[in-house]
Amino acid sequence: MKVIDTIKELKSLLGECRAAGKSIGLVPTMGALHAGHASLVERAVKENDVVVVSVFVNPTQFNDKNDLEKYPRTLEADCALLEKVGAAVAFAPSVQEMYPVEDTRQFSFAPLDTVMEGACRPGHFNGVAQIVSKLFYAVEPDRAYFGEKDFQQLAIIREMVRQLSLPLEIVGCPIVRESDGLAMSSRNTLLSADERERALTISSALFASVDFAKVNTLEATKAFVEDIINDTTGLELEYYKIVDGDTLQEIKEWSDSDYAVGCIALFCGNVRLIDNIKYKGGE
Ligand code: PAF
Repeated sequence: MKVIDTIKELKSLLGECRAAGKSIGLVPTMGALHAGHASLVERAVKENDVVVVSVFVNPTQFNDKNDLEKYPRTLEADCALLEKVGAAVAFAPSVQEMYPVEDTRQFSFAPLDTVMEGACRPGHFNGVAQIVSKLFYAVEPDRAYFGEKDFQQLAIIREMVRQLSLPLEIVGCPIVRESDGLAMSSRNTLLSADERERALTISSALFASVDFAKVNTLEATKAFVEDIINDTTGLELEYYKIVDGDTLQEIKEWSDSDYAVGCIALFCGNVRLIDNIKYKGGE
């Protein structure tokens, strides 16, 4: 596996691959890689001749400076994992390489980006669109892989690709969970043992709500999850919304949509976690 830190070198290598008729898959990441990322790379390796994994903690998508500073950075371990799962290239550029000048582009994905993470983290999705579009221009992949844990991000990236008419396929991949149910996240490493235990309430509440939803209204199901989280010491709910999986707008009744997804964000101590669960559709 090659570790590359400049766009020039990356383009030159990928140009040769393309000239040899090889397909290119891209897995954008912010590093601190775990089995969830590995599953994206494994899928990309199956579906493409050459797989590039970008490892870049993108400053423009952090609306909280503290969060950016404490974001885990583990490039050496990341490269070891990527080598094992068959990536051809780890692209780990500097901030200067990706942002030689300030990126003043303003994207609008309304109404997808005005709700949930978009409402709680102003500017977050603009920063995601800035870096992901730069990565798409640098790599020119045939396919790019994103996890469904960041459910809203996936919808917004699909919309960005439509808006910019980019010639690539976006592949959404299922959430990977720890054996006890916790959704895998680079942020999990920031949890203390106690917080990690409490964080389990998130997935257990979501799983239990799927059965609850079979015989209860949407409003009651929403309250069911909210009550469990609010009753757990150390968890501070930011939102729990049941939305249409395509428009991301809240629905009020199960009959309002054929694709219903519950999206949650909360603080476990100082660590912000998100998760989601499908109630119907989206297969
Ligand atoms: O999902 C992430 O890790 C990031 O938002 C992404 C897509 C790599 C952009 O920085």
